[in-house]
Amino acid sequence: MNGSQWADHLIQPHFVVSGNGVDEPIDSLVGINRQSVDVLMETVASDMALGISAVMLFPVIDKSHRDATGTMASTPDNPLIQATRSLREKHGESLVILADVCLCTYTDHGNCGIIVNGHIDNDSTLPHLTRQAIALADAGVDYVALSDMMDHRVAHVRSGLEKEGHTTTGILAYSAKYASSFYGPFQEAAHSAPSKWGRSSHQMDFRSTVREALLEVDMDIEEGADIVMIKPALPYLDIISAVADRSLRPVAAYHVSGEYAMLNSVAKDDDHLGRMVNETLHSIRRSGAELIVTYHARRALEQGWLT
Ligand code: PBG
Ligand code: ZN
Repeated sequence: MNGSQWADHLIQPHFVVSGNGVDEPIDSLVGINRQSVDVLMETVASDMALGISAVMLFPVIDKSHRDATGTMASTPDNPLIQATRSLREKHGESLVILADVCLCTYTDHGNCGIIVNGHIDNDSTLPHLTRQAIALADAGVDYVALSDMMDHRVAHVRSGLEKEGHTTTGILAYSAKYASSFYGPFQEAAHSAPSKWGRSSHQMDFRSTVREALLEVDMDIEEGADIVMIKPALPYLDIISAVADRSLRPVAAYHVSGEYAMLNSVAKDDDHLGRMVNETLHSIRRSGAELIVTYHARRALEQGWLT
């Protein structure tokens, strides 16, 4: 594969903030910035010139706009909604827009669900996720990316979207998302580290069997997922491979923030980093992932690292 063939398989993540002219480097993710919509527009345009045609958008919400249930998510003030509208208006169908659906970036406690009687409550969370998904579909996303890992959220979101007439909005499900220690830099970037509770009640245990992951994938597909994702990528290549062998839906892998930081931190120089990124992204593709969400996408294409 050459660079331009690679481009179709890569999804570049972005962190979107409110305001104007904001272009703030993220210490834990060197080379990735938190950007307001106006700056994001320029970044995406230059990425598209490199061949990138898909973006994954995450919000970073100021502490002062957060509350227990993440109300901000489905209001017009949500920078994710504003970014989606502007990108759609400017690029039409030539850009594939995927937007994150979860609560952890909007809640004051940083958890992915609603807290009821001292625990993260699966069923009380579902209507909030669906409301978010509808607001993003109204704004024009191609795919809502469900990163929360609540049970039956794909079915709930799917039926909510259909009731609102959004019959063509896609669902990318984080189907096998592990409670991982590789998310640290992301949580720093999005200020979404949970103050209490954490992720282990809903994200998967890395000690669980491959079959468990296959079951999660099957359920999400049955409930209406269009793309299934495994996350993180490198410690779970066996899962990607097992899912890809069976799945009738496209398989995506998320090469997460900790994996990105890890390669950056051991690279002797740019050339060395490029060779590691090329080798790594090949391993993820070889395991069966058609799509890779990676913070390396932009640099890799710009520098011609991928062969
Ligand atoms: C939020 C979410 C996380 C990531 C993507 N969506 C973090 C988490 O679950 O705490 C991690 C991505 C990365 O590390 O790059 N549900
Ligand atoms: Zn979350």
